[in-house]
Amino acid sequence: MKALVTGANKGIGFEIARQLGKRGYEILVGARDEIRGQKAVSDLTAEGITASFIKIDLNDFTTLHEAADRVGTLDLLVNNAGIPGNIATHRGQKDMFKSAFDYTTDDLRQTVEVNFFGTHELIKSLLSNLTEDAKILNVTIPISGNQYWQPLAYLTSKAAQNSMTMVFGNEFIKTGSKRQIFGVMPGAVATDLNGMPESDYVKSPVAAAALITSFLFDGKNHNAHIVNYTGVDVTNYEAELSQNK
Ligand SMILES: NC(=O)c1ccc[n+]([C@@H]2O[C@H](COP(=O)([O-])OP(=O)(O)OC[C@H]3O[C@@H](n4cnc5c(N)ncnc54)[C@H](OP(=O)(O)O)[C@@H]3O)[C@@H](O)[C@H]2O)c1
Repeated sequence: MKALVTGANKGIGFEIARQLGKRGYEILVGARDEIRGQKAVSDLTAEGITASFIKIDLNDFTTLHEAADRVGTLDLLVNNAGIPGNIATHRGQKDMFKSAFDYTTDDLRQTVEVNFFGTHELIKSLLSNLTEDAKILNVTIPISGNQYWQPLAYLTSKAAQNSMTMVFGNEFIKTGSKRQIFGVMPGAVATDLNGMPESDYVKSPVAAAALITSFLFDGKNHNAHIVNYTGVDVTNYEAELSQNK
């Protein structure tokens, strides 16, 4: 079994790679920087995991197309790489309290480029590499925030990604494919993305990766769903429309 994990050089992605590797997966460490990627490869190899580096830069589609030529057959693709967008304010570089009105269109564009367009291009590029019953897991967030946490660029880019997840999943159903694509929302995690420390409300990357990967091995079909960290499975918002084929 072979898994490609994007953004696997650190944070949640590294832990997902490590935990999948411990389950016996051969790991392709997707990273945009070769030195950081190779460091993760040696850390995984030191734990007895079979791992190798593959350059994945979601801002550079050439790397995505080259990866498709190189990775061979994949049983699992974890789209983990992502950015929070420009959350800098006068209060600090990682200010999740930034007003939604302070984002520029360029902030939105740069975030969508990575979290949505890059992820979309990678999935499309790798479709022919995926086994008949392969799974694609997207690490994601809800489509809306709350008055204390509403990073507009991040939320909107992941909302687009979540829509793609559901729509691609529906395509798998319509075409009789056994493949699955689904999103998992781990809740807040202490990583470089937000600079938050671990707390009662903020998970460690180890706990987050255990939660995220649990949905790969729970025996359920999550295709076309977005699964919340509590296990709530969001599917079709207008289920009655499914009756009108
Ligand atoms: N932390 C949270 O609270 C939280 C909650 C829910 C969902 N998530 C999601 O979890 C995923 C991982 O985030 P994290 O918290 O682990 O953050 P992180 O520690 O900042 O890791 C982000 C990873 O994405 C990579 N990346 C960024 N831009 C990229 C690009 N253009 N091309 C390829 N790789 C790129 C980074 O590579 P470099 O090292 O080269 O920058 C890094 O490996 C993200 O999709 C995030 O939205 C996080």
